[in-house]
Amino acid sequence: MNSWVFMRDGWKGLLEGDFMPLTLTAIRGILHLGGSILGTSRTNPFKGQDGPQRVFENVKKLSLEVIVVIGGDDTQKVAHKLYEMGLPCVSVPKTIDNDLAHTDYTFGFNTAVSIATEALDRIHTTAEAHRRVMIVEVMGRYTGWIALEAGIAGGADIILIPEQPFDIDEVCEHIKRRQERGANFSVVVVAEGARPKDGVEITYGDSVDEFGHARLGGVGYYLGKEIEKCIDIETRVVVLGHVQRGGSPTAFDRILATRYGIAAIDLVNQGKFGVMVALKGNEMVSVPLKDVIGKRKTVDPKLYEMASVFFG
Ligand code: F6P
Repeated sequence: MNSWVFMRDGWKGLLEGDFMPLTLTAIRGILHLGGSILGTSRTNPFKGQDGPQRVFENVKKLSLEVIVVIGGDDTQKVAHKLYEMGLPCVSVPKTIDNDLAHTDYTFGFNTAVSIATEALDRIHTTAEAHRRVMIVEVMGRYTGWIALEAGIAGGADIILIPEQPFDIDEVCEHIKRRQERGANFSVVVVAEGARPKDGVEITYGDSVDEFGHARLGGVGYYLGKEIEKCIDIETRVVVLGHVQRGGSPTAFDRILATRYGIAAIDLVNQGKFGVMVALKGNEMVSVPLKDVIGKRKTVDPKLYEMASVFFG
């Protein structure tokens, strides 16, 4: 293999043959940067009729021998399908949601947790000073990893996650119990995908992306209104949103991404394709893409139970 190229904007780049040369100059000095110099998109090559055909045409035209894929569950699903169709792929798990199966951590997650924890520290002070309930809505899509880990680290009084639909009466009971014990403020962390026991996830409108995902968000405002209905306490809502995905990555994520990158290139050199690099304990391993796709790594119920010791 002689040269490498970057495909721009994820699968969109491969569909459209949009690339730039991967030179040392292009990658020098970027370790401390967030985002992606490659750009990103939610393009699904299997959405249109001739998508896979266009991908293979571009692979041939550019004489690409191997594709190294970086992304979350949808990206891995596409990589697996294309691999099955004959495209040599090695993939790297990247998402702030930390929901990919067979890896302990995806890179980006630790940074999001750190940002959310810092936000919680700041929100604590204003919650206490104003004697309010502060609700902090965090990302994470269908899993509560960010909510749970930031909630524990940031000393949240209640953590609500998609894996455990919540009962609004219980949430209010926790807050009342805190008041009875002399705490006249509470900090609630809610994952964007959390929903009430008898309800559904809250979304912005009805539109879905090319992979069929609705835009989650708004559960914090729902909760705020419900809490004010049952308790006479001022409530405020903070939606952290894309702040969690921006800025400089933590040392943990920089090291993890570096290890994943090296492990992926080792696999390319060994000619081992159709696999994703993964972290197991402190070891770099590889797992077949077929074992990763179609699964979701939900939060560890034991960790949630441990966190709930501090609720109310
Ligand atoms: O999957 C990563 C993620 O940040 C989710 O946590 C969130 O639901 C979604 O992406 C937001 O997507 P967008 O940037 O398209 O609004």
